Amino acid sequence: MTVSTEHTGALTTGAVTDGFDHASTSYDRLVAINPGYHRDLRVSARRLRLPDRGRGLALLDLGCGTGASTSALLRAAPEARILGVDVSRGMLDVARAKRWPDHVSFRPARAEEITPAWVREHLGGPADAVFAAYLIRNVPDPDALLSTIGAVLRPGGRVALHEYSVADSASAGLLWSAVCWGVVIPAGRVLTGRSDLFRYLWSSVREFDGRARLLRRMRDGGLEAVGCAPLPGWWYGITHTFVGRRPLPPGRDAPTVEDRRG
Ligand SMILES: C[S@@+](CC[C@H](N)C(=O)[O-])C[C@H]1O[C@@H](n2cnc3c(N)ncnc32)[C@H](O)[C@@H]1O
Repeated sequence: MTVSTEHTGALTTGAVTDGFDHASTSYDRLVAINPGYHRDLRVSARRLRLPDRGRGLALLDLGCGTGASTSALLRAAPEARILGVDVSRGMLDVARAKRWPDHVSFRPARAEEITPAWVREHLGGPADAVFAAYLIRNVPDPDALLSTIGAVLRPGGRVALHEYSVADSASAGLLWSAVCWGVVIPAGRVLTGRSDLFRYLWSSVREFDGRARLLRRMRDGGLEAVGCAPLPGWWYGITHTFVGRRPLPPGRDAPTVEDRRG
């Protein structure tokens, strides 16, 4: 792995993928150290407000990793068709090795490069909702990702981004650094034998958008009804759900689930 800056932990895009490949077999043990990890993902997935147990809906989980976010989405919409997408084959292999119902599947792809045609081919139609947990901070061009999300959502479809954002709060930034250098980086080194991905985690969150900037990006990317809400716990103010919706064309009502079933 190329570690371009020893102290900040900055990684190139390819090295981030390589880092996730390397961490894939220990990823689930790593997140288990954080008792709120899965619960928070479930809260963010519920914030998509998916109706009717997801019956008839098609959902995308971008940057699905080992399937923790996919599992949260499945809890929120147990009858929806769900496609998990990730660029790391190692993370996808771990996800695929778990037990899933037939209507959950996984595909390798770079999230910002998927197209409406690709989604139609693999999901059977445009996405009714997109979930992306801890992804947008890791992509080189967040605006490109938001524009892709807008393109693959059906009109009226919703997105939830689950992400760390500390730039708007000095106290959240300090807490983040203390937790990373006191717990996350040492624990990551013990569990995976190296610490570059965890130093990258620390610095990428420190450098990532504040809440206001990300909400502005979402609006500029054509999403409406954008908003964000914190997750409860000691990390209050660090982890957030950012939600938004693809606008409907003027004069059109949102399609109902029955419309989608044809
Ligand atoms: C921190 S993990 C989160 C995984 C999962 N969403 C979760 O909540 O546990 C971030 C994931 O995003 C993936 N990733 C990073 N950049 C990506 C990209 N451009 N396209 C698709 N996946 C990407 C990584 O391989 C990794 O599996």
